[in-house]
Amino acid sequence: MIFKVCAKKDFPKSGRLVCEIEGESIVIACEKSKFFAFENKCPHVKAPLREAILYKNEIICVWHGWIFNLKNGKCLNEKADCLLKIYKVTLDKNDDLWIEI
Ligand code: FES
Repeated sequence: MIFKVCAKKDFPKSGRLVCEIEGESIVIACEKSKFFAFENKCPHVKAPLREAILYKNEIICVWHGWIFNLKNGKCLNEKADCLLKIYKVTLDKNDDLWIEI
């Protein structure tokens, strides 16, 4: 299913927005004019990821530094075999932001 998030012009200047969609808390992040979305719960010990650092193609949890691939959610830590949910975000011709769950 696809849900409208907001108009691009209404996206917070902080570059982060947390939404509750279908019972899931989801972080929508804007970095260098690109939008990304991922679950707001680190697979390690459930830290909220709204403060996570986005660096190149990675999401870094600020609690213990676990790193996840921004495109597929794969955990890049050697000993962790887990996945972070990643969602598809699109911008339509009216500059409205949509998320696919
Ligand atoms: S809770 Fe995210 S790395 Fe520990």
